[in-house]
Amino acid sequence: MAKWKVYVTRLLPPKAMEALYNNPDLEVEVNPEDRPLTRQELLENVRGRDAVITQLVDKIDAEVMDAAKGVKIFANYAVGYDNIDVAAATERGILVTNTPDVLTDTTADLAWALLFAAARCIVPADKFTREGKYKGWAPMLFLGQDITGKTLGVIGSGRIGTAFAKKSKGFDMTVLYNDVNPNPRFEAETGGRFVDKETLLKESDFISLHVPLLPSTRHLISENEFKMMKKTAVLINTSRGPVIDEQALVKALKEGEIWAVGLDVYENEPELTPGLAELDNAVLLPHIASASIETRTKMGLMDVDNVVAALNGQLPPNCINP
Ligand code: DGY
Repeated sequence: MAKWKVYVTRLLPPKAMEALYNNPDLEVEVNPEDRPLTRQELLENVRGRDAVITQLVDKIDAEVMDAAKGVKIFANYAVGYDNIDVAAATERGILVTNTPDVLTDTTADLAWALLFAAARCIVPADKFTREGKYKGWAPMLFLGQDITGKTLGVIGSGRIGTAFAKKSKGFDMTVLYNDVNPNPRFEAETGGRFVDKETLLKESDFISLHVPLLPSTRHLISENEFKMMKKTAVLINTSRGPVIDEQALVKALKEGEIWAVGLDVYENEPELTPGLAELDNAVLLPHIASASIETRTKMGLMDVDNVVAALNGQLPPNCINP
């Protein structure tokens, strides 16, 4: 029997690659470069494949799908799948899968790391110490914001938003949340209270974004929203960059409309809006929310399971468009 042809657009963790290479039914090819494929390379490499494992930086649109004629599945190595035109895939009978659940806590943990870092000036304080500027304890050195007892605002009450809010329990926080509709599961697990967006923005000390990127969530946080926030507010984004209007963010940070931001994602990733990198009250990470060895391995193994199921004519466990 001819082997199924699988293409991987970027090298995955070793255990996931082993699972692919050790499957006797698969003929696997991987992008050999340590960088994303160019558009041209993507179009060329999907040709003639039965399955493609994609990254969130690969734009999988109708043109790619038509170049990949005969492909059965695009298995995205991410929980978010805004890089894939799912409607176009469904039209063509192509399955799309993602990697939910396994990265929920890892991503929520990183949102907390950003919150702590931004609230307590961790990054500039570390830099200051390394540069030999620390000359002894001082009463006004790197004064930040308290976390315990404060109000946490969570926008997006799905899996990651819920895990993030749950972790606030040790800090005796009041949890407010906003979503399209109230979410009884979020409330049961976190004790959070549903409020409208305006109330959340006005009352929260820390605001963390956990929404998917949709037309309705693009620039969910822009000039007006920054004006509603407390001057001491800390904003965290581990969801998708375009949820924040980054120009309005730079202005809000410069003009002291909010205290600080912690970002893992950017509006024009990997580009940063001019001015952002110069700000001491911005903690900037390179989209590493799910980047633990365990989680990235699990995500890779999930992709392999999804691919193998689809190629065997079964419904993949994490199918978005069954
Ligand atoms: C995802 O899986 O969507 C995350 O953004 C990856 O870090």
